[in-house]
Amino acid sequence: MNIPEQLRKHGLFDARVPRYTSYPPANHFRPGEGHRHQSDWLNAVPAGSEISVYIHIPFCKRLCFFCACRTQGTKTLRPVDAYVEVLRREIANVRKCLPSGVKMARLHLGGGTPTILSPATMALLLDKVFAAFAPTTDIEFSVEIDPTEAAPELLATLVDFGLNRASIGVQDFAADVQDAIGRHQSFEQTDRVIQQLRGLGVDNINLDLLYGLPHQTSDSFAATLQQVLSLCPDRLAIYGYAHVPWMSKRQVMIDAASLPDTYARFDLTKLAQQAFVSAGYDEIGIDHFALPSDGLAIAARAGRLRRNFQGYTDDTTPTLVGLGASAISRFPQGYSQNAAATSAYLDRIASSGLAGHNGYEMQPQDILTARVIEDLMCCFGFRETRLLADFPEEREAIHATGIALMRQFPDAFFIAKGGLQIREDFKPLVRVIASRVDGFLAQNSGACLGDLAERRCNKSKALRAQKGASPLGLWPHPRDIFGQMKSAGPYIAWPQDVAVGEPAAVDA
Ligand SMILES: C[S@@+](CC[C@H](N)C(=O)[O-])C[C@H]1O[C@@H](n2cnc3c(N)ncnc32)[C@H](O)[C@@H]1O
Ligand code: SF4
Repeated sequence: MNIPEQLRKHGLFDARVPRYTSYPPANHFRPGEGHRHQSDWLNAVPAGSEISVYIHIPFCKRLCFFCACRTQGTKTLRPVDAYVEVLRREIANVRKCLPSGVKMARLHLGGGTPTILSPATMALLLDKVFAAFAPTTDIEFSVEIDPTEAAPELLATLVDFGLNRASIGVQDFAADVQDAIGRHQSFEQTDRVIQQLRGLGVDNINLDLLYGLPHQTSDSFAATLQQVLSLCPDRLAIYGYAHVPWMSKRQVMIDAASLPDTYARFDLTKLAQQAFVSAGYDEIGIDHFALPSDGLAIAARAGRLRRNFQGYTDDTTPTLVGLGASAISRFPQGYSQNAAATSAYLDRIASSGLAGHNGYEMQPQDILTARVIEDLMCCFGFRETRLLADFPEEREAIHATGIALMRQFPDAFFIAKGGLQIREDFKPLVRVIASRVDGFLAQNSGACLGDLAERRCNKSKALRAQKGASPLGLWPHPRDIFGQMKSAGPYIAWPQDVAVGEPAAVDA
């Protein structure tokens, strides 16, 4: 049986499950919870500790048809400048809530298109950021760059403030694909921006690619992959195009009939994997590749890989402060997401100084579940020995979950490294496997896997018992669960969650 058939046998090939850039995924955040906790959680950050900062710029000059990021189009810089003024106010207010001596270890500007800012406005923003949050000596400062909107003066300004990593959107170089996605970006233009950055001393370059775009074929994509490799990036992210016109209205411009089907998408991912691995890149998680000398590859080898709203990361700081419309802050106590629509964000900063709205306070069982899911996503393992060491009081739940995983996916796991490891062929299924310990999905579907999901699931269990459904321990076939979710679609499917810096619902 070939790999897609083997995966399909589990009824899982087409499943739509979260991307698990957070647990719980952002669609489970609750209205008002962010507002309620944000200032207390900022206050509780330990004095002198290190934090990461994310700043969201929700503007682009042109809107690409494929894009599901939270952004809006603008022809002039007037709304952008006004937004940055408000961001500066938010930075000052957040700073007042934090204790003294906090240091910024990471700064990431995402969007939208941060490079839409004029050099003067960017300098105003960064002046404020660096005055508010003193950087560590080895700070990583990264920016998402659209090469069609990256003036040399702006790049020089970023470098003056210490930019040392750039994340550049490529997607695909084939002309008919670019026509269909409304994004015209030549190889030469992309190369020029990369050379400029390298000339200015920015040595760490990530490139984003998409598979599953309209008219993409194995031949056309192979050509793009060769062009991409000739740019010698340090890291590559290859995301599956998520066609979600009900969330991202601009995608109606893309003819669904021109999209590759599930099997073709699978072939495209395999093509990329083979090209990158044979060019010497390490495979990181489900959708990243990195040179063995890159921080991400080093973290993966050391078992330090983490998951955050940008995907995979080697950032281990417990606090991420999100600034700007829709930005999510992560604290050990939970999540707080700023008001998502730009207008609502501006109103909140004007009225209360902070913009937290949706949020989630972590409960004890969520902390363990989050860790199990992050381990699965980052190292394809259920590391029972380590979990028992970190959560000794949860011995029974951990053990029961391991057994349940092994029973439900007998051919997906093997026993190793003090727990369970996912077999190579089943790695594309990791999100689906992780979703089976996700208490929120279990709660919705009435299906519980092991004690972790079961705890959140008690209410559903009682209901099922009333209806005479199977007792716990006889789990329904995954098809029965995912059949209830939104229409089946791509191989690595669209997130049910909404993540900043990642494709998300649009507000314009
Ligand atoms: C926040 S966007 C910003 C990129 C930057 N503005 C640019 O255009 O280069 C980051 C990445 O999200 C990914 N992305 C956007 N829409 C997507 C979709 N519908 N499905 C999957 N990935 C998507 C793209 O690979 C994109 O490079
Ligand atoms: S891909 Fe980048 S430039 Fe295109 S609409 Fe999305 S955020 Fe804007």
